[in-house]
Amino acid sequence: MAPTKRKIKTLAVVTPGGDAPGMNTAIRAVVRTAIYNGIKVYGIERGWLGLIEGKIKDLELNSVGGIINRGGTILHTHRCPEFKQKEVRKKAYDNLQAFNIQGMVVIGGDGSLNASNALIKEFNFPIINIPASIDNDIYGTDYSIGFDTAVNTAVDAIDKIRDTATSHERVFVIEVMGRNNGFIALDVGLVAGAEAIIIPEVPYNIDAVGQKIRYGQQRGKSSFIIVVAEGAARADDIAKQLQKRTKLDVRYSVLGHIQRGGSPSAISREVACKLGSRAIQLLLEGRKGLMVGMVSDKIIETPIEDVCRRKKQIDMATYKLANMLAS
Ligand code: F6P
Repeated sequence: MAPTKRKIKTLAVVTPGGDAPGMNTAIRAVVRTAIYNGIKVYGIERGWLGLIEGKIKDLELNSVGGIINRGGTILHTHRCPEFKQKEVRKKAYDNLQAFNIQGMVVIGGDGSLNASNALIKEFNFPIINIPASIDNDIYGTDYSIGFDTAVNTAVDAIDKIRDTATSHERVFVIEVMGRNNGFIALDVGLVAGAEAIIIPEVPYNIDAVGQKIRYGQQRGKSSFIIVVAEGAARADDIAKQLQKRTKLDVRYSVLGHIQRGGSPSAISREVACKLGSRAIQLLLEGRKGLMVGMVSDKIIETPIEDVCRRKKQIDMATYKLANMLAS
């Protein structure tokens, strides 16, 4: 790869919002591609909070050594609701100016995208976003960094729970993450062979779930896995309701933040390497206000404004497939 024509000399990278496995891989790709092209890189610590407080440090080639396989983010992160205020964003912009930062790569989820959109509109600041969120609810990409790892973690947990569910002939309701959406639940439910998947995008009928369990029992099944997205219902509540509708013992398990940790999967790393590097190339080409994404295995760019405006849809064909295979 020959170095591209340089248009900016200094940029910053930040990982605001919830962490996702593969963020470190993306930071490494951003830093190494930038340095390769002669750009100085700053890392902003603790997400937007660090930008407001001026917690900005140099990143060198060595700073990102040995992190390709590490979950979390070496830059740390922080939920920062105050960044929704215009005067707070002005403070952040002033710090970018003070450090003579000419462009920024933002690695994060929907909150980060909305914040980036505001910074672009208010200050015309060059930003490229990289989608990173285990929720995978970001328009403009098939994969956001961390999603595949979270799915693998949840499937591994459910496979283990299935062993005890089978031994005790129980129903297990398993709650997975997905604040307002069922992307994790759907993929996990499909590949873990869940008997029912409850997601916010599809209204659920608890009687129908109970009936599915009874039909299964009639043909000799004695244990059942129900996957529920946290954005649709609470596992304990579903478990209580199912206990009334079945003669089997019902238990529940909330997988929680375990899904956000761990070494990134090969797919999360691949997406991170490719999108991280592409983000820098775009800044070098003088492009801005874009999110890079992977669609049908190709790297594409979508205006951040469109990404914020549009809602990624759940794949109903996958939902139907999961139901059919679990019948
Ligand atoms: O957006 C990612 C996510 O893990 C959601 O699935 C979940 O609802 C939320 O973050 C949890 O956030 P926090 O760690 O701040 O409680």
